[in-house]
Amino acid sequence: MQMPSIASSVEMVPRSRIRELAEIAMSMDGVLRLYFGESNLPTPEYIKQAAVRAMNEGFTFYTENAGLPSTRRALAAHYGKMHGVDLDPATEIIVTASGVQALNLGIRAVLDPGDEALVLTPAWPNGSSSAMMANATVKQIAHPLCGDRYRIDFEGLEAAVTPRTRMLLYTSPSNPLGWVANAEEQQGLLEFSRRHNLWLIADEVYDRLYYAGSRLGEPVPSILRMATRDDAVVVIHSFSKSYCMTGWRVGWLIGRRDLIAKATQLIEFVVSHAPTFAQKAGETALAEGEEELARMLERLRQNRDLCLQALHGIAGMTVPKPDGAFYLFPRLEGLTDSFGFCRDLLMETRVGLAPGVAFGNGGEGSFRICYAAEQSILEPAMERLARFLRAGV
Ligand SMILES: Cc1ncc(COP(=O)(O)O)c(C=O)c1O
Repeated sequence: MQMPSIASSVEMVPRSRIRELAEIAMSMDGVLRLYFGESNLPTPEYIKQAAVRAMNEGFTFYTENAGLPSTRRALAAHYGKMHGVDLDPATEIIVTASGVQALNLGIRAVLDPGDEALVLTPAWPNGSSSAMMANATVKQIAHPLCGDRYRIDFEGLEAAVTPRTRMLLYTSPSNPLGWVANAEEQQGLLEFSRRHNLWLIADEVYDRLYYAGSRLGEPVPSILRMATRDDAVVVIHSFSKSYCMTGWRVGWLIGRRDLIAKATQLIEFVVSHAPTFAQKAGETALAEGEEELARMLERLRQNRDLCLQALHGIAGMTVPKPDGAFYLFPRLEGLTDSFGFCRDLLMETRVGLAPGVAFGNGGEGSFRICYAAEQSILEPAMERLARFLRAGV
C-alpha cells in the first residue's frame, strides 16, 4: 500500500549532531554533561519568585502576539541603558518564545523558496537549519583562524554572493568559537550587507557574556549602535543565557518595522506568543539581574581559565582564548571524525562534549566544551579529557 511521505523539503533538513550525541549520553548514568549550552545551576530565586507572583496576579492568559507591552517597554529601556539605542517598543520589538524562535521567525520573514542565505560558521546549527526549513539554500563561510583570533573571510563572502542571496547570519559572541566581532568587523558586515542589498541577521544572545570589556558586565556593543532603524538589520536575543532561563523559552527579536509587523503576524500561527508569566519574569530579570549576572560572569571567567589551564600544552591541540559566550573550541591536529571522537570520549570517560562537525563548515577537527557547569563538574571532566587526549586517542 502506498503511504504519504514526509515533504522532501524537510527530509533534507539535517539532524542536530549535538542532540545525537546528547541522546546517547542521556541513556547513560554518571555523565559529566558539557554538551549543551547551559549551566547546571538553576534559574536564580528572584526570577522564579517573579514568575510565581505573576501567576498569582493573573498573568496566565493570552497576551498580544508581540508580547506584553510592559515587557517590550522593559526591553526598549534595557537597550537605551546598555547600548544608548532608542527603540520603539510598539513597532520595533517582538517578544518570542525563545531565541531560537526569534531566529526562525526572522529568517522565515526574509527568505523565499530558492533564495540563498550566507551563514558564518562554525555556528550553532539552528540558523542554517531554519533557512533550510524556509526552503532556501545555505552557503556556509568559515571563520579563518589567524594566529590566536578568528576573523571574517570577507573575500569568501564576496565570492559567495549571487543574485539569489538575501541574507547573512552571524553570531557574536559566537557559539561555539567565543569569537566576538570587533567594531571594524561589524562595520564591514554592515557595509557588505548594504552593498549587496541583504538582510543582516545578528545573533547576539551571548552579548552579556563578555570578558574583554573594560569591566565584567559590559555588553558587547550591539550592531544596533551602528545601524539605523531603517537598515535591514535584525537582532536575535534571549533570556536563556544571561539569566539561566533556558527552560523558560522566552527571547526577543528586534528589526525594521515592516519585518516586526510581519513577524508579529506569523508568530500567531506558531505559538501565538511567548508564555505570559515568563514574560513578566523576564521583566524582573532585566530590572534586578545585574548583581547576579556579575557573580555569574566572575565564575564563568574562572571556569574558562580553569579549562584553558587544564588543556594547556597538550600536543597537537590549539585552544584559542575566547572573549565571549561560555565555550572552548579546541582544534586537534589530525582529527577527522569529531563525532566518533566525542562518542569514544563519552564511552570511555563519561565526559559529554559536542562534536565540532555539528557546527558546519570549519567545525570538523574540533570539539566544543561548555564551561558553564560548576567547577565540581568541570574539574573532573577536564582531568579525564586531558588524560584521554594525552593517551593519544
Ligand atoms: C547562538 C545561539 N543563538 C540562539 C540560541 C537560542 O537560545 P534559546 O532558544 O534558549 O533562547 C542559542 C542557544 O544555545 C545559541 O547558542
